[in-house]
Amino acid sequence: FIPPSSGGTGGGVVAKDALGNDIVASAYLETHSAGDRSLAQGLKGDPTYVVIQDDQTIGDYGLNAVCTHLGCVVPWNAGQNKFMCPCHGSQYDSTGKVVRGPAPLSLALVHANVSEDDKLVFTPWTETDFRTGKEPWWA
Ligand code: FES
Repeated sequence: FIPPSSGGTGGGVVAKDALGNDIVASAYLETHSAGDRSLAQGLKGDPTYVVIQDDQTIGDYGLNAVCTHLGCVVPWNAGQNKFMCPCHGSQYDSTGKVVRGPAPLSLALVHANVSEDDKLVFTPWTETDFRTGKEPWWA
C-alpha cells in the first residue's frame, strides 16, 4: 500500500477528542493501548476511529464510523474484534472492511499522521483502498 505524502496538513484537519480539543499523539498513546479503536472528530466533523496498532503506535489510517448501509455510527466491539452496527447487523473487521451485510461497502478511510508538533492529523484518502485493492468509493 502507498504511504501518504508527508508534509503539511493540506486538505486535512487536526483530530479532536470528545471535548473538542486537539489530539496530541504522545498523550493519546498513554491512555489508549494496542488494539484500541476510539472515536475522534475527523474531516467535515465526521466521527472517525483512531487505530492503535499492535506495536502501540497510531495507525496511519483512520476509519469513518458512518455505516455504509444507512448511516448509523458503528460501534467498535473489542471482544469480537469487529465493528458491529446496531441498526441492521452489518459487521466490519478491525480494518473497517465489510464482512457482513447489508452494508455494501467497507468503512471509508482517511490518512492519519502525527505532525511535527505531535498532533494527530487526518487528511483525505484518495488512493487505492488497501483492504480491497479497489479505487476508493468515497473519493
Ligand atoms: Fe448499519 Fe444498517 S445502518 S446496518
